[in-house]
Amino acid sequence: MKIRKDPGLTFDDVLLVPRRSNIRSRKDVSTAARLTSTITLQMPIVSANMDTVTETRMAIAMSRAGGIGILHRFMSIERQVEMVMRVKRAESMVVEEPLSIQPDATVREARVMMAEAEVGGLIVVGPESRLLGMVTARDVLLAPDSAASVSSVMTPAEKLFTAQEGETLESARALLHEHRIEKLPLVDAAGRVTGLITAQDIVKIEDHPNATKDGRGRLMVGVAVGVRADDLDRAVACVEAGADVLVLDIAHGHSEHTMDMVTRLKKRLSVPVIAGNVATPAGVLDLAAAGADAVKVGVGAGSICITRIVTGFGVPQLTAIAECAEEGQRLNVPIIADGGVRTSGDLVKALAAGASTVMLGSMLAGTDESPGAPVVKDGRRYKVVRGMASLSANVQRRAVDKGEVSEEDYAEVVPEGVEAIVPYRGSVNDILHQLVGGLRSGLSYAGAASIADLWDKAEFIQMSQAGMTESGSHDVGRI
Ligand code: XMP
Repeated sequence: MKIRKDPGLTFDDVLLVPRRSNIRSRKDVSTAARLTSTITLQMPIVSANMDTVTETRMAIAMSRAGGIGILHRFMSIERQVEMVMRVKRAESMVVEEPLSIQPDATVREARVMMAEAEVGGLIVVGPESRLLGMVTARDVLLAPDSAASVSSVMTPAEKLFTAQEGETLESARALLHEHRIEKLPLVDAAGRVTGLITAQDIVKIEDHPNATKDGRGRLMVGVAVGVRADDLDRAVACVEAGADVLVLDIAHGHSEHTMDMVTRLKKRLSVPVIAGNVATPAGVLDLAAAGADAVKVGVGAGSICITRIVTGFGVPQLTAIAECAEEGQRLNVPIIADGGVRTSGDLVKALAAGASTVMLGSMLAGTDESPGAPVVKDGRRYKVVRGMASLSANVQRRAVDKGEVSEEDYAEVVPEGVEAIVPYRGSVNDILHQLVGGLRSGLSYAGAASIADLWDKAEFIQMSQAGMTESGSHDVGRI
């Protein structure tokens, strides 16, 4: 037996000591950070792969804001693939395979297709994808005869403005404005459709200058995978659908089956692989040696975790981050601090301790973009958040796997997470705005121009209980 004598620290045990600063404005600092060696985020925040946190809507919002969302894995492969495709379709400079319809299809079919795909128009094509026209929601909205052909309501090709492949954003923007149109089909020399530029996409690009984009101008998205037999198929299918990064997320990530899976994923696929969770430098070293491109740190720190109570294992989160980050920096492997962040101050402390990015669960679970609807309790609105190792999540998983659950299933589960509620908080963008604002302020208190600069300059001071009390608002009535 070995007993470490230092107590280990977490966020509330420390404060950062202010330093002389030459930062004149919070705008002068950079919040950019490496998620992996090849992916940089303008906002160092990742939404957790939990089924009460990240599905399509959250992933889109996170990526637009400059972070990234990791789609959870507690669903069928088909559903996860569909979510990846929805994020990838959410915006792009050029829609590469615009939805198309045949001229002899009916108005009814066009309506259904637009509604299902949530698009406002379809390209009408003939043989070999030759452009014949375009039909929009307005063309079919009040069309009296649902059985009429699309060709009878469409705008024919000769009346459409088109552009060639390779059109630049500036010139497409000018054309769309000049002709007061919303969609610009791209065609090759033979008149075949090769893409579509929409005014809406241009607006989205301009509205979200920090968005996390892939090489084709599409939002980036990550997917979580496990170590089960079909998880390699899951990873392959999601990457084929466009997933940009894989997150191999195992409660005890410092295990041989996690390392084997990292190696298998890296051998098979070319996207970066994040692996975790670990809480020690040895864990970082082993996962990096197996091929991980970033390592997720945190065992039992999450708001809904009871791993430390149930198993007796864990490392206080600030110590875990600091020790793992030292190893990560030595190996040039970014660290993602996962769990326990409740405020922008905690976010700054996690980064100052050496993390490159921070994963958030409960902080984002109360928003419009998280899955599920708000529930009302005592006249206030809340949303549900649950640990992925909670009783209900475990039982639901068994139900999906086996098609039914029995009393034995309930009895067999040893939960390491709980189900809880968090206040409903509206749009995730408001929370992200506060977090990034707090981070910018934090960087200026440290005199740090960037997160890497913060690593060098951060000095922590340990807190007493009295210091803690002084840190919150005190001796005043809260309204
Ligand atoms: P926060 O504090 O941001 O933490 O809500 C999110 C992280 O918690 C982890 N997680 C769990 N840990 N039992 C655990 O011990 C669970 O059931 C559980 N579910 C999620 C996970 O790392 C997540 O990102």
